[in-house]
Amino acid sequence: MGGDAPYHIPAMAGEVLELLEPANGGLWVDCTVGGGGHAALICARLGPDATLLGIDRDPLALEAAAERLKGCSCRVALERAHFSRAGDLVDRLGGSVSGALWDLGVSSHQLDRGTGFSIRDLDAPLDMRQDPQQDLCAADIVNRAGEKEIADILFRNSDERFSRRIAARIVRARPLRTVGDLMRCVDEALPAGYRTRDDVKRRVAQALRMEVNRELQELRQSLEAVCQRLVPGGRAVVLSYHSGEDRLVKQFFRSADREGWLRVLTPRPLRPSEEECRRNPRARPARLRAAERVR
Ligand SMILES: C[S@@+](CC[C@H](N)C(=O)[O-])C[C@H]1O[C@@H](n2cnc3c(N)ncnc32)[C@H](O)[C@@H]1O
Repeated sequence: MGGDAPYHIPAMAGEVLELLEPANGGLWVDCTVGGGGHAALICARLGPDATLLGIDRDPLALEAAAERLKGCSCRVALERAHFSRAGDLVDRLGGSVSGALWDLGVSSHQLDRGTGFSIRDLDAPLDMRQDPQQDLCAADIVNRAGEKEIADILFRNSDERFSRRIAARIVRARPLRTVGDLMRCVDEALPAGYRTRDDVKRRVAQALRMEVNRELQELRQSLEAVCQRLVPGGRAVVLSYHSGEDRLVKQFFRSADREGWLRVLTPRPLRPSEEECRRNPRARPARLRAAERVR
């Protein structure tokens, strides 16, 4: 796993623990266990009667988490699954949740793995699957979808204002095989002044990744299922990394608050400190929101 390099540095760990308040027994769910960074910190506060359920769809993440969580004093159950299935997994373990965490998006390990998640990895294939058993990958979308469909994906997922021009360029350049092929299409589609704009490239890659991994659909389903199973006083904490995710979480928490079954704990999202961003630049876009079950 890359020598001594950590699998992933957990973002906003202090804030997560403060809001989640892990303690004693119960079932604690880490919907995005990754390399087990946050999970290890949660487990360190749990007693032997507690269970940590760690979910991830990436088998390499689960291997790293198993190694990291060896020797924890609480019970640890690691499940390879899409977190939209979290409700079923929780039901198998008794049905009520003391606290739950989502640390969304991509781990450092996935970004550095050469499977198309990083826009710097120009020779990497257009894969972008977190679940390697899934059929659909990014190359399928750019090479098979219609021009309008590609433009819609870029606009819907990343608010990309050049979505139509970029989609037209992609369709003309087919077949695309690598991240470099895709980045060239972006360069060629943008007006001259934008040619070096990495933020457009990042948004295009993000939009495709979100589509491949059904990120917003997964998030909506799992928030609903897990928050419904929270015990009174149990908390849900979500770290998101782009505006689409953050908007979905905000709207879900606010609407449950209006309906009277969740209480929003963060009227505005918390952000990582400047000090943390310097230490771990990948934490910079993080937004943390939390809510508590009231009945
Ligand atoms: C940012 S990383 C989590 C890192 C973790 N908190 C840590 O400290 O090591 C996000 C992880 O969530 C997983 N993931 C994202 N969406 C998922 C989904 N819908 N179902 C299951 N796992 C998912 C990814 O595979 C990735 O390993």
